[in-house]
Amino acid sequence: MQVFLNGDFLDATEAKVSVDDRGFLFADGVYEVIRVYDGRPFLVEPHIQRLRDGLAALRIDTAVANRVMPAAERLLDENGHRTGDVIVYAQVTRGAAPRRHSFPPADVSPTVYVSTRSFAQHPALYFDEGVAAITVADTRWSRCDIKSVSLLPNVLANQQAKDAGAFEALFVRDGIVVEGSHSNLIGVFDGVLVTYPVCNYILGGITRRLVLDLARELAMPVREGAILQEQLVLADELFLCGTTTEVMPVTVVDGRPVGAGDPGPITRRLLQAYRERAGAAVVLV
Ligand code: PDD
Repeated sequence: MQVFLNGDFLDATEAKVSVDDRGFLFADGVYEVIRVYDGRPFLVEPHIQRLRDGLAALRIDTAVANRVMPAAERLLDENGHRTGDVIVYAQVTRGAAPRRHSFPPADVSPTVYVSTRSFAQHPALYFDEGVAAITVADTRWSRCDIKSVSLLPNVLANQQAKDAGAFEALFVRDGIVVEGSHSNLIGVFDGVLVTYPVCNYILGGITRRLVLDLARELAMPVREGAILQEQLVLADELFLCGTTTEVMPVTVVDGRPVGAGDPGPITRRLLQAYRERAGAAVVLV
């Protein structure tokens, strides 16, 4: 499998990053995950723009973002990834330099890494019957809008969910369910889609934005506002959205059924609309 690292295309086993890399030492970097359906990268421009925004927030040269898609396109060809479900992973760190907290000298170049890999789509059952989620305290920092590689709270929360037999952990900050460990959360209350507004406490998901656009196209009312933890039991429907999760119904939260305990009609309609837009196979009938 070929990967792109700092301008070179090389075998993944040959790709080496310095122990002085600030991604390794400080998690001083950002990343992107882009879905590729049958060879076609999906929603490229918003992903690359979010990468630029993240780089700008970290004060790393935003022009680095322009290197990602040309590298990814070549990898898709060379790795035989023009069919099926594939993920492009891109990561940029501040580069390698002796450890000190402040930025390294200006001549230190960012580390740029791009890979493509086959994505094992989640089982159809998850979409047909829904998944379970748990709520956890949001112990993250207050710049969750930056897609930072500093994901330790997300990793711990996601493992807590796995240990509980659930798919996702939902972060609760000040009594509000803001998002999942690797997805955004949307609830349906009396026919209205409710999701936390884009701000520094959530990642502005590219899938979230598309799903809200699709909802508006389908004349579904949308309200960007808080879902309180105690309101979760009152939701008619809940679903996650994200590049790897697509539109995934949540039918159990903290062991209690959501709505009727089945994926609801709005979730199913939006999953179908999402898959149609993505050109992906529609699994629901
Ligand atoms: N995660 N919120 C968080 C905390 C996320 O990590 C993600 C994506 C999302 C959804 O964003 P998008 O629709 O742009 O993928 C929301 C990626 C897929 C990951 O870390 O693998």
